[in-house]
Amino acid sequence: MLKLDLSKIAGFIPQDYVDSRKANLEQAAQMLAAHNGPGGDYTGWVYLPRDYDKEEFARIQAAAKRIQQQSQVLVVIGIGGSYLGARAVVELLASPNYNLKKKDTPDILFAGNGLSTDALLETISLIGDRDFSVNVISKSGTTTEPAVAFCIFKTMLEEKYGKEGARERIYATTDKARGALKGLADGEGYEEFVVPDDVGGRYSVLTAVGLLPIAVAGIDIQALMDGAAQAMEQLSVPGVDNPAWQYAAARHALYENGKKVELLACYEPCFRFFAEWWKQLYGESEGKDGKGLFPASVEYTADLHSMGQYIQEGERLMFETVVQFRPKGEYVIPNDPANVDGLNFLSGKPLSFVAQQAMRAVILAHVDGGVPNVLIQMPQLSALSAGYLIYFFEYVCGLSGYLLGVNPFNQPGVEAYKVNMYALLGKPGYEAQKSELEARL
Ligand code: PA5
Repeated sequence: MLKLDLSKIAGFIPQDYVDSRKANLEQAAQMLAAHNGPGGDYTGWVYLPRDYDKEEFARIQAAAKRIQQQSQVLVVIGIGGSYLGARAVVELLASPNYNLKKKDTPDILFAGNGLSTDALLETISLIGDRDFSVNVISKSGTTTEPAVAFCIFKTMLEEKYGKEGARERIYATTDKARGALKGLADGEGYEEFVVPDDVGGRYSVLTAVGLLPIAVAGIDIQALMDGAAQAMEQLSVPGVDNPAWQYAAARHALYENGKKVELLACYEPCFRFFAEWWKQLYGESEGKDGKGLFPASVEYTADLHSMGQYIQEGERLMFETVVQFRPKGEYVIPNDPANVDGLNFLSGKPLSFVAQQAMRAVILAHVDGGVPNVLIQMPQLSALSAGYLIYFFEYVCGLSGYLLGVNPFNQPGVEAYKVNMYALLGKPGYEAQKSELEARL
């Protein structure tokens, strides 16, 4: 399914970069499989494509159908790991223009992923007088952004449909036993889905967190799980031929040889939010203890005309990982009899040929400029191939974290701003911090 080309990192790192890490990779793979490495309590994602809760999966499919019937809009409320996976897959497989399309599935609007008043007002006006449902996703139930958004949209639903009607339109994805949202959902009788205890937010796209919104968009979530299961099977085979081992070793070797940024590039605009998901996955997993590659992303060819200069000639601190998909359709460039722009040397050629040559040209130019290149070649975009790629990146991320010597499954740094914000907002219990912070501002 996935082809990894590492030929364009040669010369930047020692040739034996995989073999020299074989023992560490072996150990990392064993720790992931046995759930006994640092953060092992959060490695439930490793066998998730095989061991997922089938009963809940059927409920997700049923709830998605119900939402499709009852509403023209689904508002998905969540942030970080409770948001990015769903949006990544919806945009990747149903298009960034999904809401603009003529379709028999609801529009999907994302809320609670920021604190912008204008964005909130726009979301409300986009709903207009259409019927809508809400999927609120929060493991803790106390994250400020989604909690505030849920308060607003719950009130709107209750005003529009009454308490009883609102209850039928609210779907809560949260902890199975604890937390503010869990208590509220139990009390109000919302349909509930579970964020598993052993799966952290950034690894949760293949749980109800991602699957419910993805299914509402009409995407085949069974195929998504099947693709992930295929990857799980193939990548669990130990050895230096395993592409996950190779990619993890390459990343680590490049990091140790001075590269500090991994730039994820794709020539498909629908990949933009997948890259956002990837950035959280790698940034939160590796960026700690003063270590870690900084994950960044670019959309080609558009960004060649903005970021291209820096990539070619700026600080030599990055390597590039390009994800290429085989196109699903084809378009042949027409002939212009006047040939005013001298472009007729391309007429009769498919656009994908131009894209392919552009990609090859960019790879060579960047490598010549000191930017090593990793190429990941995928078949056509489908739920199956997307599921495979999700698991591939997750698994490589787990291996990479262990190679780096960090716990890839915690995120202690995310708390710092939250404590300050709670204090400044006057949340009870944070009074001492509030005066200290106010004095410093
Ligand atoms: O990956 C993570 O753990 C975070 O991005 C969380 O998902 C995010 O902070 C949202 O947390 P919660 O689901 O508790 O609202």
